Amino acid sequence: MTVQNTQDVSMEDIVSLAKRRGFVYQGSDIYGGMAGLYDFGPYGTELLNNIKKSWWKANVQLKPNYVGLDSAMFKHPKVWEASGHVGGFSDPLAECKKCNTRIRVDKELGAVGVTADEKMSEEELNSLFDANRDKIKCPKCGAKDFGPVKAFNLLVKSNLGDFTGDDAEPVYLPGEACQGIYLNFKNIVDSVRVKVPFGVAQINKAFRNEISPRNFLFRTREFEQADTQFFVKPNENKLAYEQIKKDRWNWYLSLGIKEQNLRWKQHDNLVFYAKDAWDIEYNYPDLGFDEVEGIHDRTDYDLSQHSKFSGIDLSYTDPVTNEKYIPWVLETSMGLGRAFLAVMCDAYTVEELPDGGTRTVLKLNPEIAPIKYAVFPLLKNKPELVAKAKEVYNLLSQKYMCEFDDNGNIGKRYRRQDEIGTPNCVVIDFDTLKDDTVTVRDRDTTNQIRQKVSDL
Ligand code: GAP
Repeated sequence: MTVQNTQDVSMEDIVSLAKRRGFVYQGSDIYGGMAGLYDFGPYGTELLNNIKKSWWKANVQLKPNYVGLDSAMFKHPKVWEASGHVGGFSDPLAECKKCNTRIRVDKELGAVGVTADEKMSEEELNSLFDANRDKIKCPKCGAKDFGPVKAFNLLVKSNLGDFTGDDAEPVYLPGEACQGIYLNFKNIVDSVRVKVPFGVAQINKAFRNEISPRNFLFRTREFEQADTQFFVKPNENKLAYEQIKKDRWNWYLSLGIKEQNLRWKQHDNLVFYAKDAWDIEYNYPDLGFDEVEGIHDRTDYDLSQHSKFSGIDLSYTDPVTNEKYIPWVLETSMGLGRAFLAVMCDAYTVEELPDGGTRTVLKLNPEIAPIKYAVFPLLKNKPELVAKAKEVYNLLSQKYMCEFDDNGNIGKRYRRQDEIGTPNCVVIDFDTLKDDTVTVRDRDTTNQIRQKVSDL
């Protein structure tokens, strides 16, 4: 039987492969780890970079009216007031009176079929929670005795530039990556030849004090977001929004993700800045369908807020009609960790072999596979084979990420490369020395063909 369905795999299988094969490690592992923090290992870094490159190509290189940006993570304290994060970016928490475990009230209510609206005040949430207290148990000790619901802000504070120690105006770490784009809207319009409608793309980090980081890379406290903000004329958002949604869906397919593992979800419970919001969801192991990317119609919320708080007019003047307006923003925001996880889960395959054994293969799209060619000398103890294999490795690595491996028998080397998703394994044998041909083994079919080195 071949296991290729994400719901036949557990997150534990993915976590285990990720660690064993150098994709992802628990953050600060040797100190016992830290919840919600992960480090990308050698192959994980390659895969992540390849996903970023593919995203950048689709969103900047191939889009003539999009430009890139890389803004500083630390921003003026007023930014997070203007954005609404200081006032409104919080999770409603309640503490178990018996064991002090904190629960996310909206999530716990949701689990028993009660919807808590994003826009509810603390008072309204407390009434809703009170009316449903008998249904909610502490996940740790089982008690049903909780304190009042309190809003817990997710922004992470730093003490950057605070030389007084009084923490008067904290400099926050970014709660979302997109703010850097709004802050540079005017700079970009004034310095680069862009005209509305145009987009700005950026990959940057975000930090959130998540109360319950969970499901591996799915909910972490530090993560990267790949964002585009498309600036349009007010009320000219509809067509562009539909096109952006289509483009984003197709990008996931271009990565090789199976369409049956993706679906759309429209929000009926909108966050404070959005007028319309759709998520692309992926069918993660254990979790089922959940958000990998949010696509938001933010209207003029962001540029208006920053105009107000900074005192700088962020309106745009149409160079042809002289019309002046605050552009509306259409946002796409993808969590790179979640996209990475979707890619790994989608590619994870366990195949039964004719001899009754199994092999685990990461059937990654070759374009994003960490290693494109693994080069093996047939025998480690034959210097002429090793020398020739090194020559082929040096040649191929001018163009591709390659790996040289002469460790263990060939079968073991194939298994290792299958698990990291290497599409091609090249074996150098005695015939190679005579006619410069090599055996190339295909990861997915395991078929082997003979090819000239110059044709690789
Ligand atoms: N600027 C809009 C924004 O930040 P969001 O829905 O809060 O919107 C966008 O986040 C994306 O960032 C999500 O679709 C998700 O992929 C990713 N994301 C959000 N919180 C995350 C977390 N705690 N861990 C990992 N990824 C997260």
